[in-house]
Amino acid sequence: MPNPSILILPGDGIGPEVMTEVRKIIGWFGEKRDISFDVSEDLVGGAAYDKHGVPLADETMAKAQEADAVLLGAVGGPKYDDLDFSVKPERGLLRLRKEMDLYSNLRPAQCFDALADFSSLKKDIVAGLDIMIVRELTSGVYFGEPRGIFEEGNERVGINTQRYTESEIERAARSAFELAMRRGKKVCSMEKANVMESGILWREVVTRVAADYPEVELSHMYADNGAMQLVRAPKQFDVILTDNLFGDILSDCAAMLTGSLGMLPSASLGAPMENGRPKALYEPVHGSAPDITGQGKANPIACVLSFAMALRYSFDLGAEADRLEAAVEKVLADGVRTADLLASEGVSPVSTSEMGDAIVAALNASL
Ligand code: NAI
Ligand code: MG
Repeated sequence: MPNPSILILPGDGIGPEVMTEVRKIIGWFGEKRDISFDVSEDLVGGAAYDKHGVPLADETMAKAQEADAVLLGAVGGPKYDDLDFSVKPERGLLRLRKEMDLYSNLRPAQCFDALADFSSLKKDIVAGLDIMIVRELTSGVYFGEPRGIFEEGNERVGINTQRYTESEIERAARSAFELAMRRGKKVCSMEKANVMESGILWREVVTRVAADYPEVELSHMYADNGAMQLVRAPKQFDVILTDNLFGDILSDCAAMLTGSLGMLPSASLGAPMENGRPKALYEPVHGSAPDITGQGKANPIACVLSFAMALRYSFDLGAEADRLEAAVEKVLADGVRTADLLASEGVSPVSTSEMGDAIVAALNASL
């Protein structure tokens, strides 16, 4: 059997800096755990534009379709801000998501004990928090037709359309229930069935899918109440399933429960390929951070945890993912901090590569 393949797309700004640390960790798994990957690397975003005049070359797109998992750093930067919309760095990322048909966006919000002070909420509300938001990513109001700004009488009207088919709801729901089976066996589905027909259909389809997962406890919540509950008592949730628009907002809200942008991973999954693995793109939530690029200040943990998600969801290596997450937890508990994680003056931060080395050391200690 050939090794599973990973396509690395470091991208722009701090993307390549954090990816260097992930490569150390991939190397560690090969060397110490005999878990090897065929790793190839290519360009995305501004880096691809500089070379090819487009933010994602067709050849790279084809490689991404073939790969068992794609790991992306970040795209964009001031150098590209004035480019035409059609070749902006973000378009490279959007093309990947669209052509790979990545309909299920997984955004964990996990609070490492050592960072509980970092949350804007009280420590006891967030300590030990571990929830997962599943956001439908390829449909809903960001894509529905009709859309546009039209003339109507003597004024203009801006129109977007919230639209979901049963099959779109069903596949997102299945991915949430599958996930719940591997976690706390609870799904809370959020929509606005009280005021939106798409929400009524959403609730109906999710309820139907739930019948296939009798072990999972399903609840429904209106999304506005969901926002309140997320900041009031986030630990009541395990998996939250929601649509594209509500998921955009709720996942950003949940993310901030845990502190720094430099800590947040994500996964975007699509349909299973022939080998049974889902199409998959893993990336940190943060952007290219031009303000700190090239200074060794970037926190690589978001990208490292994105790789941990790849181990778990693409390669069925949950125990190794746990090992990697525990290594991150240990490093944080030991007080190792990049600059973005410093709550107080007087503690000196470590660099990007020192953080990577500390995680590798903690992995070694785990053997
Ligand atoms: P950003 O996430 O790049 O940065 C926001 C703030 O967080 C900055 O102060 C940055 O220094 C800090 N930060 C981000 N990641 C960090 C890390 N790993 N370690 C330490 N500090 C970190 O968002 P911003 O500034 O709005 O956008 C900058 C560029 O990134 C833009 O071109 C934007 O379009 C692009 N972007 C790309 C994304 C992606 O590739 N998925 C997502 C968001 C923005
Ligand atoms: Mg958002």
